[in-house]
Amino acid sequence: MKRKVSVIGAGFVGTMTAQRIVEKNLADVVLLDIVEGLPQGKALDIMQSASVERFSSKITGSNDFADTGNSDIVVFTAGFARAPGMSREELALKNGGIVKSVVETVARHAPDCIIIMVTNPLDVMTHLAWKTSGFPAQRVMGMGGILDSSRYRAFLAEELNVSAGSIETMVLGSHGDSMVPVATHTNAGGIPVSRLIEKERLEAIIERTKNGGAEIVNLLKSGSAWHAPSSSVVAMVEAILGDSKRIFPVSAYLTGQYGIEDVHIGVPVKLGAAGIEEIYEIALSDKELEGLKQSAKTVSKTFAGLKIS
Ligand code: NAI
Ligand code: 2OP
Repeated sequence: MKRKVSVIGAGFVGTMTAQRIVEKNLADVVLLDIVEGLPQGKALDIMQSASVERFSSKITGSNDFADTGNSDIVVFTAGFARAPGMSREELALKNGGIVKSVVETVARHAPDCIIIMVTNPLDVMTHLAWKTSGFPAQRVMGMGGILDSSRYRAFLAEELNVSAGSIETMVLGSHGDSMVPVATHTNAGGIPVSRLIEKERLEAIIERTKNGGAEIVNLLKSGSAWHAPSSSVVAMVEAILGDSKRIFPVSAYLTGQYGIEDVHIGVPVKLGAAGIEEIYEIALSDKELEGLKQSAKTVSKTFAGLKIS
């Protein structure tokens, strides 16, 4: 049976996500935005590349949330990016209203879907989507950790002059300044990177990873990254639709794991047809565990500031 993915927000991340999904023939896609004509125009443009790119998945643009009905997965990218000088709290207030209203509407039209949140601040918006939708926690997740890990892998690969695919790592915690790259789980072809890169240099790479999003924003001058973000979203879509049981760092609802509860934060999970099928509690150093707990506190505090119960 043909699978269906709806992508809310036909901006940079949403459009590229939609394009990658159809080009990989993973599912038919509905690309939805509030701006009239925008998703229709972009969907038409992508659809006209089908014969050249050789895909058969269908893509349609829409302004009507009813078109998200029967979606297997809905990806939320609607909202604003953080502008220079804007605090995380201000962004949360701005995007909170959008996310609440679009999730409410989508949950009515596609009550059985799996939600992948992308809108920032990521972990706060994922928690809001979970609360608003009333969906079981395994069907609501956020994309942040795959992107942060892929940036870390890219920088480590560049440093070691090896392929990025040979680097294994896990960046946990919130998708933000308080992310936690887990040193004990970072290796190149099985060799711990701490044996290959001097401590100071490794710390500089970790710092660059933490500022990975901001580095791109500063170069672009307006807007933020979308190529690596959309790749990361599509990896999640592929794992769910293919029931592949791949393990990824994903923003998930914690109920006591790592001593953290009632918050969404990036942790290693197994992704399959049911969504988050397992949350893994891996061994962390005291510093990493403390970092994860601090990260969770920041997310909880920002969510509380939304004053949405
Ligand atoms: P963008 O500005 O290009 O696109 C956002 C789109 O959302 C616009 O087309 C806008 O019309 C639409 N929109 C606004 N309100 C809507 C509503 N109520 N219903 C439907 N559509 C609506 O922004 P971009 O670059 O695509 O980023 C989107 C979000 O994703 C931002 O919050 C950004 O910070 C976040 N992001 C998160 C990443 C992550 O790792 N989690 C990575 C990259 C971006
Ligand atoms: C990024 O990390 C802005 O969250 C976005 O690129």
